[in-house]
Amino acid sequence: MTSKFIWINGDLVPFEQATIPFLSPAFHYGLGVFEGIRCYNTETGPNIFRLREHMQRLVHSASILGFLDLPYGVAELEEAAKVTIRANEFAECYIRPVIHLAEGGMNLNIASGKAYFGIAVWEWTAYLGKEAADKGVRCNVSTYTRHHLNSMMTKAKITGNYPNSVMAKTESVRLGFDEAIMLDAQGYVAECSSENIFIIRDGVIYTPPSAAILEGITRESVMILARGFGYEVLEQQMSRDQLYRADEIFMTGTAAEVIAITEVDHRKIGSGRMGPITRQLQDAYHETVRGKHARSATWCTPVSAG
Ligand SMILES: Cc1ncc(COP(=O)(O)O)c(C=O)c1O
Repeated sequence: MTSKFIWINGDLVPFEQATIPFLSPAFHYGLGVFEGIRCYNTETGPNIFRLREHMQRLVHSASILGFLDLPYGVAELEEAAKVTIRANEFAECYIRPVIHLAEGGMNLNIASGKAYFGIAVWEWTAYLGKEAADKGVRCNVSTYTRHHLNSMMTKAKITGNYPNSVMAKTESVRLGFDEAIMLDAQGYVAECSSENIFIIRDGVIYTPPSAAILEGITRESVMILARGFGYEVLEQQMSRDQLYRADEIFMTGTAAEVIAITEVDHRKIGSGRMGPITRQLQDAYHETVRGKHARSATWCTPVSAG
């Protein structure tokens, strides 16, 4: 996860010098917000997928956490991401912008500190392993409940929200599964540890409504691609046993992309292999991020200057 430079508060700083003091409130209390974005190498060079939407979500996350005035807006952050990739000379990479509390805030009042910014980039490998895209993954329903929407703000990528995901994912992997499916506080299916979830039954695609989940940008992209193919896509609460009787299940996320879930709690989903609709959407997503789909022109931003 090394690179040459990290963009810190407007400057490109050598990787080794981009450090955070031990007495940082962000470290102690999880007072930061972040994004996960990907840059893909396309025929026209490196392109960032849905850069604007990610930076907008970052700024919204900061506002949800309680930052009132930020020194950088969406357009400046978009430009900073491009500058960081160019400086590191990556053709394809993961982009990690962070806004965190510094210079105060140990008294638990966000207004007593300042918002610091950073953008790191690194080369990325398949998040759920090389075989996941073709073969799908095995999941369990986690013993950990997704945050109640009035205790942690689920629309925001707040660093302090993530121990919930980390504990669920760690438990699932220790139990021999690849990923955790989490239920919300009412017991309905919410999302995976860092992916949104979809089920398919009789040709209709269902996904949980946005109330208790992160509104994934891949989720939205795949819903648009699916409707473009003529599928009905419904946002609807779903129970654990609706997972068990689905024809297909898949997850979506910037890191994972579109991955079939072929088993839940030791029950085979459909044929136990990636289903045809999941494959069609996975192919369309891969084409889109690599600049080969009609949507690519509006969703992909070139890294090159000018
Ligand atoms: C909890 C959670 N749900 C869903 C997602 C998927 O969101 P996106 O498609 O924007 O990457 C993520 C990743 O950011 C996440 O952390």
